[in-house]
Amino acid sequence: MSRRKLKHFAELKTFGNTFETPEEKAKISWQNYFGNKNPIVLELACGRGYYTIALAQKFPDKNFVGVDVKGHRVWAGAKKAFDAKMKNVAFIRHYIDELKSYFEKDEVSEIWITFPDPFPREGKAKKRLTSPKFLEIYKKVLKPDGIIHLKTDNENLFEYSKETIENFCDKKGKCDFKMEEVLYDIHSKDSVPELLQITTYYEGKFLKEGRKINYLRAICVVDKRN
Ligand SMILES: C[S@@+](CC[C@H](N)C(=O)[O-])C[C@H]1O[C@@H](n2cnc3c(N)ncnc32)[C@H](O)[C@@H]1O
Repeated sequence: MSRRKLKHFAELKTFGNTFETPEEKAKISWQNYFGNKNPIVLELACGRGYYTIALAQKFPDKNFVGVDVKGHRVWAGAKKAFDAKMKNVAFIRHYIDELKSYFEKDEVSEIWITFPDPFPREGKAKKRLTSPKFLEIYKKVLKPDGIIHLKTDNENLFEYSKETIENFCDKKGKCDFKMEEVLYDIHSKDSVPELLQITTYYEGKFLKEGRKINYLRAICVVDKRN
């Protein structure tokens, strides 16, 4: 591993805004960490956390948590938040698979999934962040009417995600998510919705390559009384 990465990993621990284990997080509730009960919004596969930072600046009355396993990428976002003394930002450097160890049931208001790895091979489909395995996790941590946003350049992953979310239903046909919006090639629109104008690090690269970016939004309609 490069010296630069090792330096970043060590520095990440000094910012005080990044959790790296469930045990570390268990010492403090999100309410105490943020010092308020404001809604919590996640950016999953956040990389350098461009959405986390941009949304946190736009919405000071909400709290934002970026989650990614890659320490040197999380470092970049955590450093920005630390340098700017942002009080409504945190990061988790861990696998999204472990989300339930960091958030209680119904604790999250919104989830942004930004340019997740497509895992094109069928054998790796379970690793896609919109696979049933992950939808099951999101359904638990999302509050009633919680929202999932997905932005991706990968057409196959987009169609897979759309179908998987729409068909995440029990045998009686009761579904856990309702699709609210599906937008193809968002940057070709006359007016790009404001929140979709935020451009992530990877999105910038994909746009330069001439790739089209698609977006969907679904709402969690699980009856949480059960
Ligand atoms: C293509 S990058 C996108 C990063 C960022 N959202 C962007 O658009 O610049 C995908 C990211 O997903 C993260 N990732 C994929 N699966 C993950 C998982 N199960 N847990 C945590 N991070 C994951 C990778 O570490 C990587 O940083």
